[in-house]
Amino acid sequence: MQSSLPDKIHAALIMDGNGRWAARRGLPRTAGHEAGTHAARRIVAAAPAAGIGTLTLYAFSCDNWARPAAEVSALMALLSHFLLKETEDLAKAGVRASVIGRRDRLPGHVRDAIDWMERRTSEGRALHLRIAIDYSGRQSILAAAHAAAGAALDADAFGRLVAGADVPPVDLLIRAGGEKRLSDFLLWECAYAELSFCDVLWPDFCAAHLEAAVADFRGRERRFGALPSAA
Ligand code: FPP
Repeated sequence: MQSSLPDKIHAALIMDGNGRWAARRGLPRTAGHEAGTHAARRIVAAAPAAGIGTLTLYAFSCDNWARPAAEVSALMALLSHFLLKETEDLAKAGVRASVIGRRDRLPGHVRDAIDWMERRTSEGRALHLRIAIDYSGRQSILAAAHAAAGAALDADAFGRLVAGADVPPVDLLIRAGGEKRLSDFLLWECAYAELSFCDVLWPDFCAAHLEAAVADFRGRERRFGALPSAA
């Protein structure tokens, strides 16, 4: 049905709803974030079999620094714990894991965990897992514009500056948690992404939700601005 159907897709995930998940249980928001890390582990494990070659997870945006300091430091602690704890299993599963976003504002323990994870998993070929931390789509585009410094680049060359040389455009953007917005995530890379909004709160998101989103994506006709293939 699709005019261009990649074997292995780039899926990007906005993991929203941790706070509401916790509130519904009378728990602190951080308990929701912790449950969110378990969901992230499930989804990374399920991604290769779901036909995903690149998976980008939105863990912490540049705007998330505006949250209360206690929530921010709990999130940072959870992130470095997750990276350190998962690295060995990711390496064994053939996952290459990397982080996008600013590093200079992250606590040292998070930067160390990122360095270790990226080095230890650099040979992985089964899946490229990218975790966005202190990330802003607009800032990425701005940084690329500075790097281009007036050079007359075409969209592909400029896109490599925005997204990285080896990163395909996003095919499918999934947002859990019921909201319908992009929240400054992968703005350039999502130019022709198919959008999938799911009401399930992120801690409850599981492989079946991922597979349903990918199956729906596989049935869509992607035209990239052209006419339907039969026209
Ligand atoms: C949004 O929930 C989620 C985040 C701010 C991202 C944090 C995500 C995790 C900790 C999941 C684990 C991810 C990795 C890669 C280990 P929210 O707080 O905005 O929820 P709300 O909309 O219900 O308040």
